[in-house]
Amino acid sequence: MEHGLADPLRAGPDRVLVTGAGGQLGVALLETFPGARGLTRADWDVTRPAPVLEAPTLVLHAAAWTNVDGAEDDPQGAAAVNVGGTANAAALGAPLVAFSTDYVFDGDKAEPYVESDSPNPQSAYARTKLHGEAAAGERAWIVRSSGLFGWTSRNFVRTMLRLGAERDEIAVVDDQRTAPTFVGHLAAAVRDVVELPYGVYHVAAAGNCTWAEFAEAIFEEAGLDCRVRRITTAEFGAKAPRPANSVLRSEKGAPTLPHWREGLRACLARLDMTGV
Ligand SMILES: NC(=O)c1ccc[n+]([C@@H]2O[C@H](COP(=O)([O-])OP(=O)(O)OC[C@H]3O[C@@H](n4cnc5c(N)ncnc54)[C@H](OP(=O)(O)O)[C@@H]3O)[C@@H](O)[C@H]2O)c1
Repeated sequence: MEHGLADPLRAGPDRVLVTGAGGQLGVALLETFPGARGLTRADWDVTRPAPVLEAPTLVLHAAAWTNVDGAEDDPQGAAAVNVGGTANAAALGAPLVAFSTDYVFDGDKAEPYVESDSPNPQSAYARTKLHGEAAAGERAWIVRSSGLFGWTSRNFVRTMLRLGAERDEIAVVDDQRTAPTFVGHLAAAVRDVVELPYGVYHVAAAGNCTWAEFAEAIFEEAGLDCRVRRITTAEFGAKAPRPANSVLRSEKGAPTLPHWREGLRACLARLDMTGV
């Protein structure tokens, strides 16, 4: 379905609403859309109906349950946020950008996943995100991305920097291939996504790597002397299954992002390590 707004931003930046404004992507979206109204979880728990607000003209829905392993223990809690919360965001009545994940795929494909590939989620988290895509309604851009990292919150880059400063060696999974994506690059691409027809888009960093390769790049770029011991997913033993390949590519003209290594450098240049 085509969207009916030539530019959903035309009504003014203050009519753009960002949910999950305290998360790493929410923070980046607020920077990319200056003047947008950001609601943190304290402002609006998205499992509840929205507070009374001036009607937004565009909703950037970044609030989510993102604890992949935790969702295995509490799938209903995860669904309340990722499905119910997305339905509540859609109920605001404005065009919606809903963020989703590479984990909707099972990882068995040898090539990158394109938008027309069939999802086959393997974890409770991924199932809630796929149902959340449906809950976004018809006036929505579903932006699937992968391995998000930014200068705030909990993420792989910040965890590696903390552990790499404490240890000589760290074991990292080397049989899951993805495209770690810098939230600053993803947030900037959202400006272009909202010029496209509604629908599903794959928007992730160029290039790809395993988590072990990414960890090595982090230590190299940060000048940390920490070895990476490459282990398997089975050895790591996380609760939730994860796809072996979750590299995303767009066959629909979604905006292309810089290479993940460029994203890593941009992130390191402005990292705030307080509270990591
Ligand atoms: N992180 C990744 O690797 C990744 C990969 C692909 C796609 N995505 C998707 O990208 C989007 C943004 O993720 P992110 O990395 O920015 O995650 P994040 O840093 O965990 O941010 C999510 C935010 O949502 C908030 N939140 C959780 N439950 C809420 C609720 N009931 N009501 C309101 N806010 C709530 C969280 O608050 P608390 O901190 O208080 O819980 C947090 O501030 C999500 O849709 C995620 O599924 C993420």
